[in-house]
Amino acid sequence: MSEKVKVTIDGITVDVEPGTSILNAARQIGGDIVPPAMCYYSKLEGSGGKCRTCLVKVSKGSEKDPRPMPKLVASCRTGVMDGMEVQNITSPEVIEARKGVVEILLINHPLDCPVCDQAGECHLQDLSYEHGVANTRYEFERRTFDRIDIGDKIQLHMTRCILCYRCVYVADQLTDSRQHGILGRGDASEISTYIEKAIDNDFSGNVIDVCPVGALTDRTFRFKNRVWFSKPVDAHRHCPTCKGKVTLWYKGEEVLRVTGRKDEFGEVEDFICNTCRFETKNTKDWVIEGPRQISHKSVISSNHYEMVPLPVIKQNPALMEANKIEFDRASKI
Ligand code: SF4
Ligand code: FES
Repeated sequence: MSEKVKVTIDGITVDVEPGTSILNAARQIGGDIVPPAMCYYSKLEGSGGKCRTCLVKVSKGSEKDPRPMPKLVASCRTGVMDGMEVQNITSPEVIEARKGVVEILLINHPLDCPVCDQAGECHLQDLSYEHGVANTRYEFERRTFDRIDIGDKIQLHMTRCILCYRCVYVADQLTDSRQHGILGRGDASEISTYIEKAIDNDFSGNVIDVCPVGALTDRTFRFKNRVWFSKPVDAHRHCPTCKGKVTLWYKGEEVLRVTGRKDEFGEVEDFICNTCRFETKNTKDWVIEGPRQISHKSVISSNHYEMVPLPVIKQNPALMEANKIEFDRASKI
């Protein structure tokens, strides 16, 4: 095995395999120092380098050549060098640049979070919350598109698309034939409606899971619930097409939607087939494993506090009685 290289990100040092990107090195450290990534997706070959949200500052190139890199670099596309020093949240320059990237991404993206099914799971929503500014400097007309139904299960809102290419890679790498791509260049670019032809494929539903915004949504879930009111549960079934490992999103007894299991970076652990996603929405179809652990920072966790009575409360009937409504409510969510 080749010798590991040392990289320091925001003052934290980690040893990684040569060839690791700065972004993946940061992911190995974890926490707030991990740059946001809207287009990179570790399971999709060739992804990354499109959105620029992952920009970082390389303040020391390597042990051999300590000169800093002259410009901010895309961390998903830049490999680490031994002795490299990187700044992400500790660099005011990076934070300023990220604000600019968010401003550009929001030029055409409508702020329709109150009616968008992706709200609560949208990376752009999180980024605009952290880096967005209240006003826009853009004075021209925004691009608008009609919604396109891609079969009866998926809908494309091109107006919300940030052209990250993830769905293109899904169509390219998970489906048999390439029928979907980005047409046009620059501000005329758009996801080709040829995507409609990809619906016959068993894995086309994964475009919904990889889309970082609400451009590709699940029509079977449309307007059914805000995601933070639903209860995510891990489950599996024997599936001849995929691994059958999913997250079921419940409202009461009803399974509102089925998705792949997403990790802390919003990436699915395994891609799932359309039968698991769209056709298998009864609890009896699944072996339930238990509640899905969602990052406590996510809005999805906001209604899922575990209301386990503290020992001090349990020992005191008066306190148990006083908190009864809260405990009852928590057990029903
Ligand atoms: S539709 Fe979604 S996944 Fe596809 S390019 Fe646009 S933002 Fe990315
Ligand atoms: S995640 Fe690196 S450029 Fe998009």
